[in-house]
Amino acid sequence: MSSPPGKKSPSPETKSPTSGKKSHSPPSAGQKSPSPPAGSPPGAEGTAIEGILPASHWTDQPLHQDDDDHDSSLGDDDVASSTASLTSSIMAYRTVHGRTFHSDRITDAQYWTPNDDQATEANDIIHHMLTLVHDGKLYKAPLDENISRALDVGTGSGIWALDFADEFPNCQVLGTDISPIQPTWVPPNLKFEIDDATLIPWSFPPNHFDYIHIRYLFGSIPDWNSFIAQAFACATPGGWVESCEASCVLRSDDGTLVEGSPMDQWGKVFVGAGKKFQRPFDVVGDGLVEVAFREAGFEEVTVWEFKCPIGGWPRDKKLKEIGEFALAGILQDIEGWILFVWSQVMGWSKEQVGVYIAHLRRQLRDPNVHAYCLMRVVYGRKPLSGA
Ligand SMILES: C[S@@+](CC[C@H](N)C(=O)[O-])C[C@H]1O[C@@H](n2cnc3c(N)ncnc32)[C@H](O)[C@@H]1O
Repeated sequence: MSSPPGKKSPSPETKSPTSGKKSHSPPSAGQKSPSPPAGSPPGAEGTAIEGILPASHWTDQPLHQDDDDHDSSLGDDDVASSTASLTSSIMAYRTVHGRTFHSDRITDAQYWTPNDDQATEANDIIHHMLTLVHDGKLYKAPLDENISRALDVGTGSGIWALDFADEFPNCQVLGTDISPIQPTWVPPNLKFEIDDATLIPWSFPPNHFDYIHIRYLFGSIPDWNSFIAQAFACATPGGWVESCEASCVLRSDDGTLVEGSPMDQWGKVFVGAGKKFQRPFDVVGDGLVEVAFREAGFEEVTVWEFKCPIGGWPRDKKLKEIGEFALAGILQDIEGWILFVWSQVMGWSKEQVGVYIAHLRRQLRDPNVHAYCLMRVVYGRKPLSGA
């Protein structure tokens, strides 16, 4: 595995998703088209979803003395544009309580985690955790060593694509994202482009990539059926598409994760927010990915599931290490995971979010809580007759 990318400089090639005849993915039967809520917090009614405790539940509880980070680094800015010294529209990031998010100048795609250094460092820790989960491998599909083109959709910090390009030096690897946060010093067979994966049709030729990798896009895809159908169209006949997603719902098998606790609420708020936001968060729990693979027409669809521990509570050495990195990844940017969803989608105030984070952080660190989340990898092959 390569080390995390060093200094990041935002100059990948940029495609304009607004040119050409593209539209956001049409909803499948029964799905409503998305109505982006960014910048328009829904207010207090945001908490009136079954199972979600109101913000006052947390602010009414005393904080422990060592919970001194309840307001952490949440800034004072409201949703604002940080264009002061930057002219390029892809760099015209939005700011929410001091954290930057992708620019809405290039696409109206909605995405909910920040794109700053703190967030990309969390991304790299999670990548390391996922590599441990995969026993050091970067994929599960039975790839031919002679593949010539691969695509990493929503590449984030680009760390997976970097490792993959190192492993397959004869394969042209393309990483796409809506934020230009990838490194510029990359292997000659790796390129990054700005591209919104929810714009249909995708801008790549049909039957083009031997392998398409999709990881951790929960909460960003309005319609998984249309999305995976695009991957199917752009895969070569006989090529593989692979998805890895984690559930936002935390569980325990021994009752140590109690209903109504901060970690229980974490999942409930994400699920509720996904409904409001019209981008499902629990794609694992809802089985959306495997359904989309089968609907698209993939064959040899294979599903692999893993209970990913959160924290170093497991006795097993490997699981303990995975759990420690999972926790480190969450704690590295707990605010980034929560801020947009809790404040912009659910309508909580900055102070309410900060207090909830303090309660959540305390429980996450408690070794007596044996929490895990379900992780699922789905991969399938485009039939040779599928051109
Ligand atoms: C949680 S990160 C995962 C990054 C990477 N896939 C990984 O696993 O290391 C999700 C990434 O998806 C990107 N993203 C969200 N919506 C997107 C869209 N509509 N098109 C392309 N990328 C998107 C975000 O900007 C973010 O970098």
